[in-house]
Amino acid sequence: MNEIIRNIKTRRSVRKFSAKPVEDNILNEIITAGLYAPSAMNTQLWQITVIKNEDMLVRLQKAVAKALDRPDYHRFYNCPVFIIVTVPEDYRHGAVDTACVLQNMFLAAHSLGVGSVWINQLRDCYDNREVRELLTEAGIPENHICFGCAAIGYPDCELPSDRENKGVVKFF
Ligand SMILES: Cc1cc2nc3c(=O)[nH]c(=O)nc-3n(C[C@H](O)[C@H](O)[C@H](O)COP(=O)(O)O)c2cc1C
Repeated sequence: MNEIIRNIKTRRSVRKFSAKPVEDNILNEIITAGLYAPSAMNTQLWQITVIKNEDMLVRLQKAVAKALDRPDYHRFYNCPVFIIVTVPEDYRHGAVDTACVLQNMFLAAHSLGVGSVWINQLRDCYDNREVRELLTEAGIPENHICFGCAAIGYPDCELPSDRENKGVVKFF
C-alpha cells in the first residue's frame, strides 16, 4: 500500500486533544493543503479562518451553545486550533467545495501526526446574531455562510485501528 492510501485509510476523527500547540510551519502545511482542494470551475471562493485565540474560542463556544440551546456544548473538544471554512451564500457549490477543503486538511494533518475532526454546529447557527458578530470580529465577510469547521490539534488518545465501511459499491 502506498503512503497516500495508507494515510487515507488510517485517518480517524480525533475528539481529545493535548494542550501542545500546533507549530506554525505544521499548521501552514495543513492550511495550504486546504487551499489546494478542487473547487467547481476552480472558483476557490472559500475563506479559511484560523482561530487560536482562547478568548475568542470560549466566546464562540458560548454563543453556539446559546444559539443551539445546548448549554453543555463543548469548546470544540478543547482543540488548540479551530478552523472555520466559509463561502459566499449565493455560491451553489459551497457545501461540496467546503468538504473538499476540510478533507484535504484532515488528511494533511494526519500525515503530519496532527489530529482533526469535522465540527458541524456552526452550520446551524452562523446567522444567529451573537454568532455572526463573532464571525465578523474574526474577519469573516457578512455574505459568507458556513458548511463546516475543523478542530485541529495533537491527539491525546489512540486512534481506532480499523473501521467498518458501510457504503455501497457496485461494479457493472
Ligand atoms: C458532514 C460531517 C459532519 C460531522 N460533524 C461532526 C461533529 O459535529 N462532531 C464530531 O465530533 N464529528 C463530526 N463528524 C465526524 C464524523 O462523526 C466521522 O467522520 C465519522 O464518525 C467517521 O469516523 P472517522 O472520521 O473516524 O472515520 C462529521 C463528519 C462529517 C462528514
